[in-house]
Amino acid sequence: MTAVGIDAIEIWTGNLKLDLPGTFAPEKGEDPEKYTKGLGLNASSFPDSYEDIVTMGANAAHRLMERKGLEPDDIGRIDVATESAFDNSKPVSTYVAGCLEQVFDGDFHHANKGERKFACIAGTQSLDDAYNWIRAGRNRGRSAIVIATDTALYARGDAGEATQGAGAVAMLISEDPNLVELSAEQGYGSADETDFLKPNQQFPSVDGKRSVQVYLARMREALEDYESVAGDVHPDDFEYAPFHTPFPGMVRKAAMLAYRHVIRDTSVEDELADEIGRQPRPEAFDDDEAFREAVREYMDELKETEAYQEWYAETIDPTLSISREVGNWYTGSVHIARASALKHALESDRDMTGERLLVGSYGSGAQAEIHSEVVQDGWEDEIEALNVESQLEARYDMSWADYEEVHDVHNHDMDVDVEEFTAPESEFVFDGWGRMGERKYRYVE
Ligand code: COA
Repeated sequence: MTAVGIDAIEIWTGNLKLDLPGTFAPEKGEDPEKYTKGLGLNASSFPDSYEDIVTMGANAAHRLMERKGLEPDDIGRIDVATESAFDNSKPVSTYVAGCLEQVFDGDFHHANKGERKFACIAGTQSLDDAYNWIRAGRNRGRSAIVIATDTALYARGDAGEATQGAGAVAMLISEDPNLVELSAEQGYGSADETDFLKPNQQFPSVDGKRSVQVYLARMREALEDYESVAGDVHPDDFEYAPFHTPFPGMVRKAAMLAYRHVIRDTSVEDELADEIGRQPRPEAFDDDEAFREAVREYMDELKETEAYQEWYAETIDPTLSISREVGNWYTGSVHIARASALKHALESDRDMTGERLLVGSYGSGAQAEIHSEVVQDGWEDEIEALNVESQLEARYDMSWADYEEVHDVHNHDMDVDVEEFTAPESEFVFDGWGRMGERKYRYVE
């Protein structure tokens, strides 16, 4: 069977940066290490006054199409995943197509366009839609563009304000891909949860602590479901495990639980038994609390073992490097985790062709999904082409006063006008409002 998967990706960050330990922490009267060590974040990306989910998504897609030498006729689908949409009817993908038609000859009139919503997992769901469309033989040889784009802003003063971010990831989904093949096997963990929602409001209502617990519970269900179709996961099976990263500290918690799960009944658990004993099993305890206490003690010891620390350093930590500098990109977050991992592989000369990734996506509300990916032999060229580091370096570093203004500019309930902080170049910009309240865009050379 022909492989189907991600042929290429492009990343577009918001052009502004908020330094969390340097600018945010002092204003909040907090220890900078809460951000760098606790949450694991150095900075958040923000959109300048002329940027939004459309410009960032269109800019990423433009770069992708140009780099791959594509014309509109090569594309049969444009799907946008976002939880920051500004219209309940007209999808963001139509705006993106309109932008792209300003710079390419031809049009996307025969491409199917849509918008996916399920909090942060919608980007992965759009990948599924594209995969299924190709597998069903409906693509007529064409590829799909999937764009995950968000401005992850929280209300001022909300605990989530520390984990904001803004950026887009565009992915080309094709037969015979250059980057990764997606597995047919998937596992789901899904339940009606109230951890994070935006009931017709721009900024989320969040129960932050609960959302952390729900992430862990649903991810565990998804892993078990994945194993029921793909067989037990062993820590040595995967070179990297990119997970949805609302902030790196979240993944640190998830990794610890995942490791305990995947080493159970393996030679790794046996080898560690002399050092820290075997994992507590519920049947050995009279009550649930005693079992849970034993698990907590086991986890504390497991965390200190060389085996765990090595696995974490090689398999998980490299997935977090972009996230540390940009914060939460919601739908794009797991996709920048994959890119971080493959960048690490390239920089450390790891031969990845044929190697596997275990990918864990999550969306509040809530649903987790786990699948695996096999790295394809064109991966090095694809990853080498990314310019994410130079984009991150070029961001304008906001003062606290700048940040307050920028937050207001992007607040739909406020009508403020702020001079842009950066000069747009070779990119789409927001260009004001049309007669029906639609947003207008133009390309700046
Ligand atoms: N040095 C080192 N670590 C520190 C620290 C310091 N000086 N101060 C705090 N920390 C640690 C805390 O111990 C905690 O780590 P832990 O959870 O492993 O114990 C971490 O930093 C965060 O501190 P906390 O006090 O819990 O932060 P908070 O009350 O501001 O809330 C969130 C954190 C994640 C709940 C909040 O940012 C939020 O609501 N985010 C949005 C929702 C979200 O992203 N959910 C994730 C699932 S999708």
